[in-house]
Amino acid sequence: MSLLPETVTIDAMTGALSPATGHYAKHLADLEGLFQDATAWANAVAHGGNPLVYEVIEYRKDGSDLFFGTTTMQPGRVGTEFYMTRGHFHSNPAMGEVYYTRRGEGLLLLENRGGESRHVPMRAGSCAFIPPGWAHRSVNTGDEPLVFVWVCNPAAGHDYAAILDKGLRQIAVEQDGAVAILPNPRFTQG
Ligand code: F6R
Ligand code: ZN
Repeated sequence: MSLLPETVTIDAMTGALSPATGHYAKHLADLEGLFQDATAWANAVAHGGNPLVYEVIEYRKDGSDLFFGTTTMQPGRVGTEFYMTRGHFHSNPAMGEVYYTRRGEGLLLLENRGGESRHVPMRAGSCAFIPPGWAHRSVNTGDEPLVFVWVCNPAAGHDYAAILDKGLRQIAVEQDGAVAILPNPRFTQG
């Protein structure tokens, strides 16, 4: 099959992408176990209207070695912890990714299979290089939507299971009006 060039329009303010081939949304109820404060999470789901946390829109063409899309994250917190994505390793350890931020303020938390942690800022114009073998989770630390464009190989695959249990070794919280990156208590408490 031969593929033809095409222009895809991306709105940096909303993350709208057209033409799109796929779309999904994650509300708070879809993110059970992600946040440290399970009571605050349950309250926000049951009594806080189960808010939208993030949406993903993708452009994927069968037969291509690239696909891309947008992730748009709403601002918010569960307890003191900022809204974040599930986070994943790529199933293929040889495939990395690029995250190009178009709007908002956030953090990209990264961790390799050896347990080494890093974080890089996400702000309009910053382009994060995610090397092969590094799990990645984005966090909206600002008060407006965080919009970024991502590009990777469709054969990269997602391994969510590896961090579903305890999360990553770092968490991003609001502390005294500032953003703090703290050790994840689920690791330090064994
Ligand atoms: C793809 C990728 C992004 C994320 C998206 C949602 O490899 O890294 O498209 O999938 O930002 O995050 P997750 O998948 O961690 O819920
Ligand atoms: Zn990824």
